[in-house]
Amino acid sequence: MTAARANESRPRRPEMTYAFWGAVALAVLLLAGTLVSAVWTSSVSPADPGNTTQVVLGQAVYAKHCAACHGAKLEGQPNWRDRLANGRMPAPPHDETGHTWHHPDSVLFGITKEGLVPGKYAPKGYQSDMPAFGGALRDEEIWAVLAYIKSTWPPRELAHQREVDRQSRTRR
Ligand code: HEC
Repeated sequence: MTAARANESRPRRPEMTYAFWGAVALAVLLLAGTLVSAVWTSSVSPADPGNTTQVVLGQAVYAKHCAACHGAKLEGQPNWRDRLANGRMPAPPHDETGHTWHHPDSVLFGITKEGLVPGKYAPKGYQSDMPAFGGALRDEEIWAVLAYIKSTWPPRELAHQREVDRQSRTRR
């Protein structure tokens, strides 16, 4: 306070004031820019539903490799919540009525590439009809199919999955 009042009594030097506030504005801008770019890079997923090229590739991969079980419209197998006669679970939908959007990217990618590995993505001894696509698809194709699946989700599910994914990244 005292320093400020002492300042007021001194004759003003506008060019100093401009230089000072100019420097402050520049510092604020630089800081904001750094923050925005940090948040941006950490939030862009390798499976980006906003990337049209990726989504188009993913749609083709889906039709060829996933639709037979998960449904042409991502609707899943009929009565997908009920166990089959063989004791295994049917393929769940990948649209917003399923639970694909409950999982972070790393888990979706892992399940698609390796299958529902017991002890990793499923309980020990778990048996599943979900194939491992590591041999049939390249990593880019797996990210693309996930981008396509995401591109069908309404904003609420998309935002939820993004948050789950963000939290799984900060925990790692
Ligand atoms: C032969 C049938 C079949 C095909 C083809 C298939 N899936 Fe599956 N998928 C399943 C079954 C069955 C489950 C559920 C497994 C369980 O709970 O035991 C499943 C589960 C999943 C899950 C876990 C979903 C969740 O919410 O837990 C993901 C992710 C998945 N599949 C992705 C894919 C993708 C991507 C493709 C195409 C590249 C694909 N699947 C092709 C049968 C299939």
